[in-house]
Amino acid sequence: MASVPQRPIDPPSPRDDGNPRICFCRAVHEQTLLAAIRDGCHTLAQLIEHTGAGTGCSTCRGELSELLERHVPRELPRS
Ligand code: FES
Repeated sequence: MASVPQRPIDPPSPRDDGNPRICFCRAVHEQTLLAAIRDGCHTLAQLIEHTGAGTGCSTCRGELSELLERHVPRELPRS
């Protein structure tokens, strides 16, 4: 009977620890970005300036924008 090959155990991924790395060039993790948003960085420029994320290859800027979209408090419409 042939033995079933065992899959090697993958090393921990930066995405597996509940605090994924969003900017790999500057090693900026999601919790750092969320803290900056809570502290008042509500535009991409502010987030980049405050954390340094997005200042390397720039490929993470889409994810930075998505974080802003999801976490910046919105004004409620006035009635
Ligand atoms: S991954 Fe963020 S600047 Fe390159």
